[in-house]
Amino acid sequence: MNIAFLGYGNVGAPLADHLQRAGHNVTLAAHDPHSASVLKAQARNPNLKPLDPQTAVAQSEIVFLATPFNANADAIASVAQQLPGKIIVDCTNPVGPGLTHGLNNTQSGSQALQSLAPQSHIVKAFTIYGYENFENSAYPNYNVKPVMMLCGNNAAAKQAVSQLTADLGWEPLDVGGLEQALHLEHMTLLWIRMVRIHGASPNIVWAALRR
Ligand SMILES: NC(=O)c1ccc[n+]([C@@H]2O[C@H](COP(=O)([O-])OP(=O)(O)OC[C@H]3O[C@@H](n4cnc5c(N)ncnc54)[C@H](OP(=O)(O)O)[C@@H]3O)[C@@H](O)[C@H]2O)c1
Repeated sequence: MNIAFLGYGNVGAPLADHLQRAGHNVTLAAHDPHSASVLKAQARNPNLKPLDPQTAVAQSEIVFLATPFNANADAIASVAQQLPGKIIVDCTNPVGPGLTHGLNNTQSGSQALQSLAPQSHIVKAFTIYGYENFENSAYPNYNVKPVMMLCGNNAAAKQAVSQLTADLGWEPLDVGGLEQALHLEHMTLLWIRMVRIHGASPNIVWAALRR
């Protein structure tokens, strides 16, 4: 797949790196091609080429959004003409003061994003764990894969993103439409509070067991 990254910091850089190594054509949609995060992403994988955001998004089928939530509107506006019809993988989380939901639980960040990009197919994924698990998604002591929950309204878009999660070693778990994003965002807060406040290992993820 042709994939562009808007945001390539803690979250975006490892995902871009691993997707490129898995055989995808990955570009950095770089609003500043000389920024520290561009240089750091390129230092880890020189095949991650920065392009101006419009060109990077225009030539991609899938756009990962991994910016600070408050930068989403700016990042989306910069590629508004190129986004219609594209799949946006929403990796962002609205986190408010005291690790609360940043939109006061009234609306999910992904639904807010959908209103910024109404003609794009939003899939929320790669949000419910810390970046440590995007750096390394191997949990070798278990014979099940770690689960990556995702949601969105477009079945084909979810299928495409599910394949990317599988390429990175996760078991994709489609949890429903975009209205489920609010609940995934609360799962994120659960994980962050467990790990960043209460001191649990950051290398903790969920698995889906069935019978
Ligand atoms: N950190 C985690 O463990 C984690 C886990 C899951 C989800 N998330 C979510 O993922 C998102 C990114 O988190 P992060 O920790 O990766 O952040 P980060 O390390 O600070 O990286 C942010 C990236 O966004 C880019 N950016 C900032 N403002 C921008 C703008 N206006 N237009 C385009 N790009 C812009 C930055 O590029 P420049 O440096 O070039 O400005 C940088 O590459 C957040 O929404 C966060 O809630 C984080």
